This record gives sequence, structure tokens and C-alpha cells, in this order.
Amino acid sequence: MSSLSRRHLFRAAAGLAAAAATPRAVLAQAPAAAAGPFTVPPLPYPTNAFEPHIDARTMEIHHDKHHGAYVANLNAIAKTNPQLGTSAVPDILGNLNALNDDIKFAVRNNLGGHANHTMFWEIMGPNGSKPEGEVLAAIERDLGGMEKFQTDFNAAGGRQFGSGWVFVTVTKDGKLAIETRPNQDTPLMDGKRALLGNDVWEHAYYLNYQNRRADYLKAWWNTVNWSKVAERYAAARAGTLGV
Ligand SMILES: [Fe+2]
Repeated sequence: MSSLSRRHLFRAAAGLAAAAATPRAVLAQAPAAAAGPFTVPPLPYPTNAFEPHIDARTMEIHHDKHHGAYVANLNAIAKTNPQLGTSAVPDILGNLNALNDDIKFAVRNNLGGHANHTMFWEIMGPNGSKPEGEVLAAIERDLGGMEKFQTDFNAAGGRQFGSGWVFVTVTKDGKLAIETRPNQDTPLMDGKRALLGNDVWEHAYYLNYQNRRADYLKAWWNTVNWSKVAERYAAARAGTLGV
């Protein structure tokens, strides 16, 4: 084995050991981001809620550090662009060309990241559940049923080259579609809404899964809170779904 491979394995093992040593049932704290209009929403469940599918250390770093960084960057931008903090997030992301060129790219990345991760924490939950009612009917009508939907969604997430997201978008008349976006781009940029989505950035899974994105995509279904998804579906149809 090359020394590079040994170092890689050592780092991976160290990461797993750190994850194992993480205290149980610790709620992630909002990071100490620069004060401003944007905040990281606290997780409504403990960081170890999804083990073994998503480990607590990944949840802590993902929520506190990665989402925290997007929020800190937004608050820094908002210091000189206060309108960012007073406009609705879907309105800003749906009209990026209205922004000055010096902040457009940073807002796209950081507000997109804030919106995507806010949705992501919301649609996960610790108790396992299955889709039912109108959401299940829409999945059967538009996505070929649960088995085909999950297979197609996982395949789309696997095909997304590099960092990005795989979403189910929802129209106001309730129609569903699987769509991917690179980086922190979001369907909100196209005036659409995400019913749900999975983060396929390596930061979402690398400590536990390393290069095995396909395994992460499969395991992630165990973390979906379908009652929250049903709430979002109803809100989308009512025209009240935010991010
Ligand atoms: Fe992420």
C-alpha cells in the first residue's frame, strides 16, 4: 500500500473515531456567525438522530460549519447591502440579475446554500415514515411510484458531477419532477419550488461513506420526514411554500 493510501485510511479512521466519541443526543448549536439578518435554523432533532445512516459528526460539521459559513457570508454581504435581509429569499434568488455584479455570484452561492440547507434540515426527521395521501398519489402519477422514483432520484444524484443537489420540484398544481442543480443552485432561481432534495456535496457524506455516494443516496431515504414533505406539498399548492 502506498504511503498516500495509508495516510488516507488513517485520516478516514481518525474521522470515524472522532464520530464514535461524539456525545450522544447533543443538539447542534447555531454557530457564532457574524450578527445580521440571516441565522442558521437550529436542528429540530439531535445530531445523532440519523445514525447509522448519517453520523453525528457529519451532521454537526454540515449544519454548524457549512451552513454556518453560508449564513456568515450572507451577513457580511448584508452589511453593505441591507436590502438582502428584508427581501423574501425566493424573490432574491428568482431575480439574481437585479443584484449588482459585485455581489451577484456570492449571493447565488450563499443564499442558495442557505435556502437549500434550510429545506434539507426541514424535510428530515428521526422516526422514519412513509409517504401517504396526496404526496403518494402525486409520486405514483408523476414519478412512476415509489420504487421507480427512488431509483431515478438516486441515479440522478449519482450522475450529478461534482457538488450539487438532486431535488423533487413541485408546481403550484402539484406536479412533481426530479431535477438536479450544480453547486448551491436551487430551483428557486427558476421560480420553482423544491418539495424535497438531497445534498450530494461530499461534505454531506464523506466522513462515513468516502467515495460511496450511491450508498449514501440509498441510506438517506431512512431520514426523510414524510409528514413534513406532505406539509410542503400542501403549501406549494397553496402558493405559500417559502424555501
Ligand atoms: Fe451541504
